Amino acid sequence: MTITQNASLLGFNTFGIDVKTDMLIEYSTVDELREILKTYINQSTKYLHIGSGSNLLFLSDYKGIILHSQIKHIQITSENSEFVYLKVGSGVLWDDLVAHCVENAWSGIENLSLIPGEVGAAAVQNIGAYGVEVQDVIESVHAIDINSGEIHVFKKEDCQYDYRESIFKNKLKAKFIILSVEFILTKKPNCQLNYQHLEEEILKNGDINLMNIRKTIISIRESKLPDTKVYGNAGSFFMNPVISKKQFENLLITYPQIPHYFISENEEKIPAAWLIDQCGWKGKQIGNAAVHDKQALVLINKGGAKGSEIAFLAQQIQKSVFEKFQINLSPEVNYI
Ligand code: EPU
Repeated sequence: MTITQNASLLGFNTFGIDVKTDMLIEYSTVDELREILKTYINQSTKYLHIGSGSNLLFLSDYKGIILHSQIKHIQITSENSEFVYLKVGSGVLWDDLVAHCVENAWSGIENLSLIPGEVGAAAVQNIGAYGVEVQDVIESVHAIDINSGEIHVFKKEDCQYDYRESIFKNKLKAKFIILSVEFILTKKPNCQLNYQHLEEEILKNGDINLMNIRKTIISIRESKLPDTKVYGNAGSFFMNPVISKKQFENLLITYPQIPHYFISENEEKIPAAWLIDQCGWKGKQIGNAAVHDKQALVLINKGGAKGSEIAFLAQQIQKSVFEKFQINLSPEVNYI
Protein backbone atom coordinates (compact mmCIF):
# COMPACT_ATOMS: atom_id res chain seq x y z
CA MET A 1 0.00 0.00 0.00
CA THR A 2 1.29 3.49 -0.70
CA ILE A 3 -0.07 6.64 0.87
CA THR A 4 0.96 10.07 -0.45
CA GLN A 5 -0.15 13.28 1.24
CA ASN A 6 -0.78 16.37 -0.89
CA ALA A 7 -0.27 14.28 -4.03
CA SER A 8 -0.22 15.59 -7.57
CA LEU A 9 -2.93 14.15 -9.82
CA LEU A 10 -1.20 15.18 -13.04
CA GLY A 11 -0.32 11.56 -13.84
CA PHE A 12 -3.77 10.35 -12.78
CA ASN A 13 -5.97 12.10 -15.34
CA THR A 14 -5.54 11.83 -19.11
CA PHE A 15 -6.70 15.44 -19.55
CA GLY A 16 -3.41 16.42 -17.92
CA ILE A 17 -5.03 18.81 -15.43
CA ASP A 18 -2.51 19.89 -12.79
CA VAL A 19 -4.40 19.50 -9.51
CA LYS A 20 -3.67 17.93 -6.13
CA THR A 21 -5.47 15.71 -3.67
CA ASP A 22 -5.16 15.78 0.14
CA MET A 23 -4.28 12.08 0.08
CA LEU A 24 -3.67 9.43 -2.57
CA ILE A 25 -3.86 5.79 -1.48
CA GLU A 26 -2.93 2.91 -3.79
CA TYR A 27 -3.54 -0.69 -2.77
CA SER A 28 -2.61 -4.07 -4.26
CA THR A 29 -4.77 -6.56 -2.36
CA VAL A 30 -8.32 -6.89 -1.06
CA ASP A 31 -6.96 -7.06 2.51
CA GLU A 32 -5.16 -3.75 2.03
CA LEU A 33 -8.35 -2.18 0.71
CA ARG A 34 -10.31 -3.50 3.74
CA GLU A 35 -7.72 -1.93 6.05
CA ILE A 36 -7.96 1.38 4.18
CA LEU A 37 -11.76 1.37 4.39
CA LYS A 38 -11.58 0.71 8.15
CA THR A 39 -8.89 3.28 8.89
CA TYR A 40 -9.55 6.16 6.52
CA ILE A 41 -13.10 6.03 5.19
CA ASN A 42 -16.20 6.75 7.23
CA GLN A 43 -19.65 8.19 6.48
CA SER A 44 -18.34 11.76 6.34
CA THR A 45 -15.09 11.17 4.41
CA LYS A 46 -14.95 12.69 0.96
CA TYR A 47 -13.28 10.18 -1.33
CA LEU A 48 -13.14 9.15 -4.94
CA HIS A 49 -12.02 5.86 -6.44
CA ILE A 50 -10.31 6.34 -9.79
CA GLY A 51 -9.00 4.13 -12.57
CA SER A 52 -6.48 5.78 -14.87
CA GLY A 53 -8.50 8.98 -14.94
CA SER A 54 -9.44 8.70 -18.60
CA ASN A 55 -13.00 9.87 -18.01
CA LEU A 56 -12.48 12.56 -15.39
CA LEU A 57 -12.27 16.34 -15.52
CA PHE A 58 -10.87 17.84 -12.33
CA LEU A 59 -12.25 21.36 -11.87
CA SER A 60 -10.10 22.09 -8.80
CA ASP A 61 -7.86 20.43 -6.19
CA TYR A 62 -9.57 17.40 -4.64
CA LYS A 63 -10.25 18.01 -0.95
CA GLY A 64 -10.43 14.39 0.10
CA ILE A 65 -8.94 10.95 -0.48
CA ILE A 66 -8.30 9.43 -3.90
CA LEU A 67 -8.17 5.63 -4.01
CA HIS A 68 -6.53 3.66 -6.80
CA SER A 69 -6.39 -0.10 -7.33
CA GLN A 70 -3.19 -1.93 -8.19
CA ILE A 71 -4.90 -5.35 -8.14
CA LYS A 72 -3.42 -6.76 -11.31
CA HIS A 73 -4.08 -10.47 -11.83
CA ILE A 74 -5.32 -12.14 -15.00
CA GLN A 75 -6.44 -15.63 -14.03
CA ILE A 76 -8.13 -18.41 -16.00
CA THR A 77 -10.94 -19.73 -13.78
CA SER A 78 -12.15 -22.40 -16.19
CA GLU A 79 -12.09 -23.34 -19.85
CA ASN A 80 -13.41 -25.89 -22.31
CA SER A 81 -13.03 -26.42 -26.03
CA GLU A 82 -15.19 -23.36 -26.83
CA PHE A 83 -14.81 -20.82 -24.02
CA VAL A 84 -12.29 -19.41 -21.61
CA TYR A 85 -13.36 -17.72 -18.36
CA LEU A 86 -11.02 -15.07 -16.99
CA LYS A 87 -11.02 -13.30 -13.64
CA VAL A 88 -9.17 -10.01 -13.99
CA GLY A 89 -8.07 -7.55 -11.28
CA SER A 90 -9.61 -4.07 -11.35
CA GLY A 91 -6.19 -2.38 -11.71
CA VAL A 92 -5.16 -4.19 -14.92
CA LEU A 93 -4.83 -1.74 -17.80
CA TRP A 94 -7.70 -2.41 -20.16
CA ASP A 95 -5.54 -2.53 -23.26
CA ASP A 96 -3.03 -4.90 -21.60
CA LEU A 97 -5.96 -7.30 -21.16
CA VAL A 98 -7.00 -6.90 -24.80
CA ALA A 99 -3.42 -7.55 -25.96
CA HIS A 100 -3.18 -10.64 -23.72
CA CYS A 101 -6.47 -12.04 -25.09
CA VAL A 102 -5.54 -11.40 -28.71
CA GLU A 103 -2.11 -13.07 -28.20
CA ASN A 104 -3.88 -16.13 -26.77
CA ALA A 105 -6.46 -16.14 -29.60
CA TRP A 106 -9.36 -15.50 -27.20
CA SER A 107 -12.05 -13.53 -28.99
CA GLY A 108 -14.56 -10.97 -27.73
CA ILE A 109 -12.72 -7.77 -26.84
CA GLU A 110 -10.45 -7.18 -29.85
CA ASN A 111 -12.77 -4.36 -31.05
CA LEU A 112 -12.14 -2.61 -27.73
CA SER A 113 -8.40 -2.25 -28.44
CA LEU A 114 -6.60 0.85 -27.21
CA ILE A 115 -9.46 2.17 -25.07
CA PRO A 116 -7.71 3.92 -22.21
CA GLY A 117 -8.48 3.04 -18.61
CA GLU A 118 -8.48 0.05 -16.29
CA VAL A 119 -10.63 -3.06 -15.96
CA GLY A 120 -12.62 -1.87 -12.90
CA ALA A 121 -13.58 1.39 -14.59
CA ALA A 122 -14.42 -0.43 -17.83
CA ALA A 123 -17.06 -2.42 -15.95
CA VAL A 124 -18.48 0.73 -14.34
CA GLN A 125 -18.60 2.69 -17.58
CA ASN A 126 -19.62 -0.18 -19.90
CA ILE A 127 -17.00 0.96 -22.40
CA GLY A 128 -17.82 0.38 -26.03
CA ALA A 129 -16.45 0.86 -29.52
CA TYR A 130 -16.84 -0.52 -33.04
CA GLY A 131 -20.05 -2.42 -32.35
CA VAL A 132 -18.95 -4.08 -29.10
CA GLU A 133 -19.64 -3.17 -25.47
CA VAL A 134 -17.79 -4.69 -22.55
CA GLN A 135 -21.10 -5.97 -21.14
CA ASP A 136 -21.18 -8.42 -24.10
CA VAL A 137 -18.33 -10.40 -22.49
CA ILE A 138 -18.86 -9.78 -18.77
CA GLU A 139 -20.02 -12.77 -16.69
CA SER A 140 -19.89 -11.13 -13.27
CA VAL A 141 -18.40 -8.28 -11.26
CA HIS A 142 -16.85 -8.82 -7.82
CA ALA A 143 -17.10 -5.75 -5.60
CA ILE A 144 -16.64 -4.83 -1.97
CA ASP A 145 -19.38 -3.11 0.02
CA ILE A 146 -17.72 0.04 1.35
CA ASN A 147 -19.73 0.03 4.58
CA SER A 148 -19.70 -3.63 5.55
CA GLY A 149 -16.49 -4.80 3.84
CA GLU A 150 -18.41 -7.79 2.42
CA ILE A 151 -17.71 -9.01 -1.09
CA HIS A 152 -20.67 -9.24 -3.46
CA VAL A 153 -20.74 -10.98 -6.81
CA PHE A 154 -22.97 -9.16 -9.30
CA LYS A 155 -24.13 -11.30 -12.20
CA LYS A 156 -24.08 -9.40 -15.51
CA GLU A 157 -27.92 -9.23 -15.40
CA ASP A 158 -27.73 -7.40 -12.05
CA CYS A 159 -25.39 -4.70 -13.38
CA GLN A 160 -28.15 -2.86 -15.32
CA TYR A 161 -25.90 -2.30 -18.29
CA ASP A 162 -26.90 0.14 -21.00
CA TYR A 163 -25.05 2.54 -23.34
CA ARG A 164 -22.21 3.85 -21.09
CA GLU A 165 -24.38 3.02 -18.07
CA SER A 166 -24.37 0.58 -15.17
CA ILE A 167 -25.76 0.21 -11.67
CA PHE A 168 -22.30 1.22 -10.36
CA LYS A 169 -22.72 4.71 -11.88
CA ASN A 170 -26.25 5.10 -10.57
CA LYS A 171 -27.98 3.29 -7.69
CA LEU A 172 -24.75 1.83 -6.26
CA LYS A 173 -22.54 4.86 -6.92
CA ALA A 174 -19.98 5.25 -4.09
CA LYS A 175 -21.40 2.15 -2.35
CA PHE A 176 -19.15 -0.52 -3.87
CA ILE A 177 -15.58 -0.74 -5.12
CA ILE A 178 -14.92 -3.18 -7.94
CA LEU A 179 -12.22 -5.75 -7.15
CA SER A 180 -12.26 -7.95 -10.23
CA VAL A 181 -14.31 -8.75 -13.29
CA GLU A 182 -15.06 -12.17 -14.80
CA PHE A 183 -15.13 -12.38 -18.57
CA ILE A 184 -16.22 -15.09 -20.98
CA LEU A 185 -14.28 -15.20 -24.26
CA THR A 186 -14.52 -17.58 -27.17
CA LYS A 187 -11.72 -19.75 -28.54
CA LYS A 188 -13.17 -19.59 -32.05
CA PRO A 189 -13.02 -16.06 -33.47
CA ASN A 190 -16.37 -14.34 -32.94
CA CYS A 191 -15.64 -11.22 -34.99
CA GLN A 192 -18.02 -8.25 -34.93
CA LEU A 193 -17.38 -6.41 -38.17
CA ASN A 194 -20.66 -4.61 -38.87
CA TYR A 195 -19.63 -1.17 -37.62
CA GLN A 196 -19.55 1.32 -40.51
CA HIS A 197 -16.58 0.51 -42.81
CA LEU A 198 -14.69 -1.61 -40.29
CA GLU A 199 -14.53 -4.80 -42.35
CA GLU A 200 -13.25 -2.88 -45.41
CA GLU A 201 -10.51 -1.27 -43.31
CA ILE A 202 -9.47 -4.63 -41.83
CA LEU A 203 -9.30 -6.26 -45.28
CA LYS A 204 -7.00 -3.45 -46.48
CA ASN A 205 -4.51 -4.62 -43.80
CA GLY A 206 -4.83 -8.38 -44.46
CA ASP A 207 -7.09 -11.26 -43.39
CA ILE A 208 -9.87 -11.24 -40.84
CA ASN A 209 -8.17 -12.44 -37.67
CA LEU A 210 -7.87 -11.12 -34.12
CA MET A 211 -4.37 -9.67 -34.60
CA ASN A 212 -5.41 -7.81 -37.73
CA ILE A 213 -8.63 -6.52 -36.16
CA ARG A 214 -6.62 -5.19 -33.23
CA LYS A 215 -4.01 -3.63 -35.53
CA THR A 216 -6.69 -1.94 -37.66
CA ILE A 217 -8.65 -0.61 -34.71
CA ILE A 218 -5.49 0.75 -33.14
CA SER A 219 -4.65 2.59 -36.34
CA ILE A 220 -8.21 3.99 -36.71
CA ARG A 221 -8.19 5.21 -33.10
CA GLU A 222 -4.71 6.70 -33.47
CA SER A 223 -5.80 8.59 -36.58
CA LYS A 224 -8.82 10.16 -34.80
CA LEU A 225 -7.88 10.51 -31.16
CA PRO A 226 -4.94 12.64 -30.09
CA ASP A 227 -2.18 11.00 -28.05
CA THR A 228 -2.80 12.00 -24.43
CA LYS A 229 0.96 12.49 -24.02
CA VAL A 230 0.81 15.27 -26.62
CA TYR A 231 -2.61 16.80 -25.92
CA GLY A 232 -4.50 15.77 -22.79
CA ASN A 233 -7.98 14.48 -23.57
CA ALA A 234 -10.59 11.99 -22.38
CA GLY A 235 -11.70 10.43 -25.66
CA SER A 236 -15.32 11.25 -26.49
CA PHE A 237 -16.30 14.17 -24.28
CA PHE A 238 -20.06 13.82 -24.80
CA MET A 239 -22.36 10.83 -25.18
CA ASN A 240 -24.18 10.36 -28.45
CA PRO A 241 -27.71 11.69 -27.82
CA VAL A 242 -30.81 9.60 -28.36
CA ILE A 243 -33.73 11.58 -29.82
CA SER A 244 -37.35 10.78 -30.69
CA LYS A 245 -38.28 9.54 -34.15
CA LYS A 246 -40.44 12.65 -34.55
CA GLN A 247 -37.56 15.04 -33.84
CA PHE A 248 -35.31 12.97 -36.11
CA GLU A 249 -37.79 13.15 -38.99
CA ASN A 250 -38.02 16.92 -38.59
CA LEU A 251 -34.21 17.19 -38.70
CA LEU A 252 -34.09 15.02 -41.83
CA ILE A 253 -36.03 17.71 -43.73
CA THR A 254 -33.26 20.27 -43.19
CA TYR A 255 -30.33 17.81 -42.96
CA PRO A 256 -31.04 14.86 -45.29
CA GLN A 257 -27.44 13.62 -44.73
CA ILE A 258 -27.70 13.43 -40.93
CA PRO A 259 -25.90 10.25 -39.72
CA HIS A 260 -27.96 8.17 -37.29
CA TYR A 261 -28.13 4.81 -35.59
CA PHE A 262 -31.41 2.95 -35.17
CA ILE A 263 -32.29 2.41 -31.50
CA SER A 264 -35.96 1.43 -31.58
CA GLU A 265 -39.21 2.15 -33.44
CA ASN A 266 -39.41 5.43 -31.55
CA GLU A 267 -35.80 6.51 -31.13
CA GLU A 268 -32.63 7.27 -33.10
CA LYS A 269 -29.11 7.97 -31.86
CA ILE A 270 -27.25 10.87 -33.48
CA PRO A 271 -23.43 11.14 -33.40
CA ALA A 272 -22.55 14.05 -31.12
CA ALA A 273 -19.42 14.55 -33.26
CA TRP A 274 -21.60 15.39 -36.27
CA LEU A 275 -23.75 17.86 -34.31
CA ILE A 276 -20.68 19.64 -32.94
CA ASP A 277 -19.00 19.64 -36.34
CA GLN A 278 -22.12 21.17 -37.97
CA CYS A 279 -21.91 24.02 -35.46
CA GLY A 280 -18.41 24.79 -36.76
CA TRP A 281 -16.47 23.84 -33.63
CA LYS A 282 -13.83 21.53 -35.13
CA GLY A 283 -10.34 22.90 -34.43
CA LYS A 284 -11.69 25.91 -32.45
CA GLN A 285 -9.82 26.99 -29.33
CA ILE A 286 -10.85 29.03 -26.27
CA GLY A 287 -7.94 29.76 -23.94
CA ASN A 288 -5.97 26.54 -23.55
CA ALA A 289 -8.92 24.29 -24.38
CA ALA A 290 -9.74 23.22 -27.93
CA VAL A 291 -11.87 20.96 -30.09
CA HIS A 292 -9.70 18.34 -31.81
CA ASP A 293 -9.31 19.08 -35.52
CA LYS A 294 -9.77 15.42 -36.57
CA GLN A 295 -12.73 14.46 -34.35
CA ALA A 296 -15.17 17.07 -33.07
CA LEU A 297 -16.21 14.91 -30.11
CA VAL A 298 -12.80 15.17 -28.48
CA LEU A 299 -11.87 18.19 -26.37
CA ILE A 300 -8.17 18.71 -25.80
CA ASN A 301 -5.84 20.45 -23.40
CA LYS A 302 -3.51 22.54 -25.56
CA GLY A 303 -1.12 22.86 -22.62
CA GLY A 304 -1.66 23.99 -19.04
CA ALA A 305 -5.47 24.16 -19.33
CA LYS A 306 -7.45 24.36 -16.13
CA GLY A 307 -10.44 22.02 -15.75
CA SER A 308 -12.70 25.06 -15.74
CA GLU A 309 -11.41 26.10 -19.20
CA ILE A 310 -12.33 22.70 -20.66
CA ALA A 311 -15.73 22.87 -18.89
CA PHE A 312 -16.34 26.37 -20.32
CA LEU A 313 -15.61 25.18 -23.85
CA ALA A 314 -17.94 22.19 -23.31
CA GLN A 315 -20.69 24.53 -22.10
CA GLN A 316 -20.34 26.76 -25.18
CA ILE A 317 -20.59 23.67 -27.41
CA GLN A 318 -23.70 22.44 -25.58
CA LYS A 319 -25.25 25.88 -25.98
CA SER A 320 -24.67 26.10 -29.71
CA VAL A 321 -25.77 22.49 -30.38
CA PHE A 322 -28.97 23.20 -28.45
CA GLU A 323 -29.62 26.46 -30.30
CA LYS A 324 -29.13 24.84 -33.72
CA PHE A 325 -30.70 21.39 -33.14
CA GLN A 326 -32.68 21.59 -29.85
CA ILE A 327 -30.64 18.61 -28.66
CA ASN A 328 -29.01 18.46 -25.23
CA LEU A 329 -25.53 16.93 -25.14
CA SER A 330 -24.61 15.14 -21.90
CA PRO A 331 -20.96 14.79 -21.00
CA GLU A 332 -19.58 11.26 -20.93
CA VAL A 333 -16.74 12.71 -18.85
CA ASN A 334 -17.35 13.10 -15.09
CA TYR A 335 -16.74 16.57 -13.65
CA ILE A 336 -14.99 16.37 -10.26
N1 EPU B 1 -18.45 12.88 -37.53
C1 EPU B 1 -18.46 14.19 -37.95
N2 EPU B 1 -17.42 14.99 -37.57
C2 EPU B 1 -16.38 14.54 -36.83
C3 EPU B 1 -16.35 13.18 -36.45
C4 EPU B 1 -17.40 12.35 -36.82
O1 EPU B 1 -19.40 14.65 -38.59
O2 EPU B 1 -15.50 15.33 -36.51
C5 EPU B 1 -19.61 12.02 -37.88
C6 EPU B 1 -19.34 11.05 -38.98
O3 EPU B 1 -20.50 11.06 -39.79
C7 EPU B 1 -19.25 9.69 -38.31
C8 EPU B 1 -20.12 9.88 -37.08
O4 EPU B 1 -19.98 11.27 -36.74
O5 EPU B 1 -19.77 8.70 -39.11
C9 EPU B 1 -19.67 9.02 -35.92
O6 EPU B 1 -18.31 9.27 -35.62
P1 EPU B 1 -17.35 8.07 -35.17
O7 EPU B 1 -17.56 6.87 -35.96
O8 EPU B 1 -15.98 8.63 -35.06
O9 EPU B 1 -17.90 7.63 -33.74
P2 EPU B 1 -18.37 8.50 -32.54
O10 EPU B 1 -19.85 8.44 -32.41
O11 EPU B 1 -17.77 9.82 -32.61
C10 EPU B 1 -18.26 6.48 -30.83
C11 EPU B 1 -17.83 6.33 -29.40
C12 EPU B 1 -16.32 6.17 -29.33
C13 EPU B 1 -15.94 4.93 -30.12
C14 EPU B 1 -16.42 5.13 -31.57
C15 EPU B 1 -16.18 3.91 -32.40
C16 EPU B 1 -19.42 7.58 -28.05
C17 EPU B 1 -19.69 8.85 -27.30
N3 EPU B 1 -18.24 7.51 -28.65
O12 EPU B 1 -17.69 7.70 -31.31
O13 EPU B 1 -15.97 5.98 -27.96
O14 EPU B 1 -14.54 4.72 -30.10
O15 EPU B 1 -17.84 5.37 -31.58
O16 EPU B 1 -17.10 2.92 -32.04
O17 EPU B 1 -20.26 6.69 -28.08
C18 EPU B 1 -15.19 7.09 -25.99
O18 EPU B 1 -16.26 6.73 -25.47
O19 EPU B 1 -14.32 7.77 -25.38
C19 EPU B 1 -14.95 6.75 -27.38
C20 EPU B 1 -13.86 7.16 -28.04
